[in-house]
Amino acid sequence: MALRTATLLLMLAASTLALGLELTPAELAGKRLFREGLSSSDAQVSARVGAADMLVPASVVPCASCHGADGLGRAEGGVRPPVLSWQRLVVGQGLRQINGRSYPAYTEASLARAIQEGRDPAGNRLDPIMPRFVLSTADQRNLTAYLKRLADDRDPGLEEHTLRLGTLLPAEGALAASARVVAAVLDDRIAQLNQQGGIHGRQLQLINVDPGPDAASAERALTQLLEQEQVFALISPLAPALDPVLAQRLEQARVPLIGAAPTLSRSPQIFDPLPGLDDQLLSLADYAQGALTLQQVDTRIVYAEPAQLSLAQQLEQQLQRRGWSKVKAEPLSEQAPDAQAVFFLGQAEAFSRLTDQLQQSQRAPYLFATASQVSSQLPWVPEAWSRRVFLAYPFVPGDWTAAGREALSEMRARQGLDGRQGVLQVGAWCAVQLLGDALKQVGRDASREKLIQALESLHDVQTGLTPPLNFGPGRRQGLAGAHVVTVEMPGPVFYPVAVYRPVAEGGTP
Ligand code: HEC
Repeated sequence: MALRTATLLLMLAASTLALGLELTPAELAGKRLFREGLSSSDAQVSARVGAADMLVPASVVPCASCHGADGLGRAEGGVRPPVLSWQRLVVGQGLRQINGRSYPAYTEASLARAIQEGRDPAGNRLDPIMPRFVLSTADQRNLTAYLKRLADDRDPGLEEHTLRLGTLLPAEGALAASARVVAAVLDDRIAQLNQQGGIHGRQLQLINVDPGPDAASAERALTQLLEQEQVFALISPLAPALDPVLAQRLEQARVPLIGAAPTLSRSPQIFDPLPGLDDQLLSLADYAQGALTLQQVDTRIVYAEPAQLSLAQQLEQQLQRRGWSKVKAEPLSEQAPDAQAVFFLGQAEAFSRLTDQLQQSQRAPYLFATASQVSSQLPWVPEAWSRRVFLAYPFVPGDWTAAGREALSEMRARQGLDGRQGVLQVGAWCAVQLLGDALKQVGRDASREKLIQALESLHDVQTGLTPPLNFGPGRRQGLAGAHVVTVEMPGPVFYPVAVYRPVAEGGTP
């Protein structure tokens, strides 16, 4: 029974965490005073400002306008508004040192005196930048009640001098090599940002938890990041086992993620610098239709994993809507598909199986696939497919500016990386850039909600390594399409045949 109660309490605690902080009416009234300078009674609150004690409405100088809505103060400036944490002001013994003043712990009464008369517990005068507020007993009580909760009322992961980010990168298993590449890029880019002074006075700190071998271990790792490590946002995790639940978990906890989105998930919390597989496939289809006029030939969409069924079906419908008359989705089987055009969904090894089968049955249909899935097998594609394989690439070296190319090769040299896993490298690189740009825009007084708004407002982001990235209220993928590249054997030698342009839903653009 005791155990049951404990579990129940834990569940309750977890659900408050998900829904945000619950405040009592008094605390809420205090929050309004703190943020807006408005009293819950109808009376206007005033404040005396400057050395001349000029009387103004408190709504002109609410506490949050100087101390920050999060109470964490400012990163720079003359006389700094200090951090208003109950912990620092009231709890514990010993002298506090701030702005050249030294004073013992505040009590509720001496705190009220600081706010109303501008003196600290040692009797030192506060700098006159700090206004003196004219508060009723009720207003002061509410404000004090809220100051006690202020630290709980800000998003996790935000501290005075640090901002904590989380990622999930496995040390073992099929993705370990990719995870090492992503870790190297994230570490490098974050270190660069920190060397430039961090963002608004905060250093970025990255916490990696290993997602382990399966869905259950990956969910535990995510819970650990959100609840124990208290990260503010996630960046470039590699944990496909989480795909079915990731969007929902992030939405519940209101945590933003910058990195690759699970296929077909369009979560408002997830910002992906690179295009989704679906948009990349449509770029291939547009090319196949516009340049090769394949829309009337027998076409198969072959998928290697059951999990790709819905993506395959979606493509089937999109092709039909674009006037493809003989298109069908089917799983990769022992039988080579009998068609003149094949769109392939699956990993590199399955792609080799497909080309083997086709070769044995002496068929050489046009093949379409995304580079992010199959590029590691390209050197082994049989010669029959010379210039008959078409790949979608989110970017090509032609997109790289001189500065982007140089920065990328310097990073590779520092981190001991080569050109392999280029798409992953550029994806993680862009994720850090987007996060940095958005956080700079948000300002010091940050929240997850503001970060999401700022990410949403990023337009024409120049990365030096990709076409410009664009986001918007309903737009969570920085690129909405891909370049189309054909491959000549032997080699392989790559020839871009269609440049990136955003695909239009419903028809050939
Ligand atoms: C116009 C900017 C401004 C506004 C508005 C403002 N403060 Fe301040 N506050 C300051 C500055 C600057 C200091 C530091 C003064 C010093 O150290 O001499 C300060 C100091 C304080 C201190 C003393 C902290 C310490 O460590 O001794 C408290 C408490 C405080 N403010 C609370 C509030 C509250 C509560 C409100 C809203 C009712 C508020 N402040 C509104 C700028 C402001």
